[in-house]
Amino acid sequence: MTTDVVIVGAGGMGREMYGVIRLLNAVPPAGPRWRVLGFVDDYPTESNVALVARLGVPFLGPTRWLAGQPTTTQVALGVGQPRLRRETDQAIVGYGLPAAVLVHPAAEIGPDCVFQEGLFAAGGARVTTNVILGRHVHLNQNCTIGHDVTLGDYVSVNPLAAVSGYCRLADEVLVGTTAAVLPQLTVGGAAIVGAGACVTKDVPAGVVVTGVPARPMGQSATDARHRGSPAGRGPAR
Ligand SMILES: CC(C)(COP(=O)(O)OP(=O)(O)OC[C@H]1O[C@@H](n2cnc3c(N)ncnc32)[C@H](O)[C@@H]1OP(=O)(O)O)[C@@H](O)C(=O)NCCC(=O)NCCS
Repeated sequence: MTTDVVIVGAGGMGREMYGVIRLLNAVPPAGPRWRVLGFVDDYPTESNVALVARLGVPFLGPTRWLAGQPTTTQVALGVGQPRLRRETDQAIVGYGLPAAVLVHPAAEIGPDCVFQEGLFAAGGARVTTNVILGRHVHLNQNCTIGHDVTLGDYVSVNPLAAVSGYCRLADEVLVGTTAAVLPQLTVGGAAIVGAGACVTKDVPAGVVVTGVPARPMGQSATDARHRGSPAGRGPAR
């Protein structure tokens, strides 16, 4: 069965999702699973629209294009930055379209893991066992999620980051590329673990930590989140 899907976000994250969908369609023996209708974006940059065109996929316009789509059409929320992902989800949820679950053929989701709509797992992402993943969790290339971990809604784990066993990351946490979170730690909502950091203690909500061992850098600001966005949507807005 082929399911129609619209990618929300013409930036790097959305285009990476398109790449995963293409691979999923190529995996035998199932045949094409997804038909990509195109991309929508309320704030597209010219360069992103051009890059979408290079993929040979239509740019459909703003997210209101989703209005009137049958509820069999799914959305792939290709927004890398956690807060912006939540806001975009809230803006489009009224259209009543389910969020696609996209797991790269070379990603692994282990036994007894629970996930919600919108899970995106890029190539090489590994989720071990007894893991709980919230809505629109993004697991980027080659990250690892240890046993008994809970990730809240809109959490992003960037490439090569490692979240160790029994950790709890609240909603909208961003774990930067190559960072490590040691076992049994809690990271509060919307906190940011900077790229390359090693978290050895609990991180309060909204705090940015960097370094080895990780220390607070300051309160997370929207600006910092945008600049830290994994393959974001272009300039901050
Ligand atoms: C920590 C982070 C959120 C800070 O973002 P920011 O507030 O925009 O910070 P800036 O780039 O303005 O840098 C401010 C200072 O912090 C330092 N810094 C930035 N990120 C750092 C990091 N991860 N570790 C150590 N120091 C860091 C900068 O060198 C700079 O130092 P200076 O003032 O001595 O020149 C961001 O750099 C980061 O690591 N984001 C993770 C996102 C990620 O993984 N991106 C890759 C996606 S694939």
